[in-house]
Amino acid sequence: MTRNLIRSAAAALLAVTCAGCCGNKGTGIELLQEEAFNKTADGKVISLYTLENSNGMTVQLTNYGARIAALWVPSSDGSFKDVVWGYDSADAYLNAKDKYSGPVVGRYGNRIKDGKFTLDGKEYQLTVNENGNQLHGGKGGFSTRIWDAEQFTDAAGNPAVKMTLLSKDGEEGYPGNLTISVTYTLTPENEVVIDYNATTDAPTILNPTSHVYYNLHGTSAKSTDSHLMTIYADGYTPTDAELIPTGEIAPVEGTPMDFRTATAIGARMDTPDFEPLRLGKGYDHNWVLNKTTDGTHTGAHIAAEVYEPGTGIVMKIYTDQPGLQFYAGQGMDGKETGKRGDIHNVRSGIALETQNFPDAPNHENFPSSVLRPGETYTQHTVYAFSLK
Ligand code: GAL
Repeated sequence: MTRNLIRSAAAALLAVTCAGCCGNKGTGIELLQEEAFNKTADGKVISLYTLENSNGMTVQLTNYGARIAALWVPSSDGSFKDVVWGYDSADAYLNAKDKYSGPVVGRYGNRIKDGKFTLDGKEYQLTVNENGNQLHGGKGGFSTRIWDAEQFTDAAGNPAVKMTLLSKDGEEGYPGNLTISVTYTLTPENEVVIDYNATTDAPTILNPTSHVYYNLHGTSAKSTDSHLMTIYADGYTPTDAELIPTGEIAPVEGTPMDFRTATAIGARMDTPDFEPLRLGKGYDHNWVLNKTTDGTHTGAHIAAEVYEPGTGIVMKIYTDQPGLQFYAGQGMDGKETGKRGDIHNVRSGIALETQNFPDAPNHENFPSSVLRPGETYTQHTVYAFSLK
């Protein structure tokens, strides 16, 4: 309570100090405009939703892909930084070459080899959209859908948005009518909490995740190579050249995959004689989380911590999921321009996706991603922001 009061007072003081000189909220925050997002497509309405907490931290979301479009967090110079990639209108999102800035991806996040899996003795053929494999649920996956959305205040008084989608039987090749909801909540502790919930009317597989590109500088003009990152994992899943896991769980010990102590993302990414990095052209792998708790989040282990010395911003990720896909943005070519003219440069946005392992339905030693009628899929993931 006292801490919140102090934070509110600090935010108010900052607002007075900066009034009229640094953005429309006096804190450097430049909100995306609701009018730019009001659009009807596929017979559904796309909108923008804005959540703000007592510290002035602000999250903007759109129901196009159930995505985070802007995330303004405090930085050590007293201003706020927008630490996620995005675009400033619904049209820009619809036309973007990069479909994965901020959405929920699924039904199956990451890759399924040949788009094939067998469930209860029956083989299913999914649509394929990358090298004959399926990536992120296929071309018409969750990230391309317009979700139903409801903005509300939860029982604890926190601002939230619940997005809901019906993914029909046969969609992108998946069996079962699947109803999924994703609730984003902004807490007074400067956390974005993402809760997933899903049911099906026939056996299916499911592995949704949040695919946000983070840059703790607050601009993709600066590389994320300088971010110091810790991943709480002793192992990772090596892949073939198409980034499909071989099935092996390899130790990180003694390799450039070892992030058990904070290390600059760029420090070892160009190690040419390390095959996994050569195949991924950098980091694009799933880490097998140790499920270590730091005592702060009930029911969730700490997956990773990222710190940018230039802004003082720290992002900690807590989840109940077994894996973390870390992709360092090496596929970006600087040809896409996002919000405020921000150019999506190579290695200037990192994706840290909490999930089951890629291609798990084809590896018996990986955790199951099967969802059956009568069961409820849940995922609880927290992106917590603070300053160092
Ligand atoms: C990541 C994936 C990358 C790339 C990216 C989207 O999850 O690991 O290989 O596909 O999504 O561009």
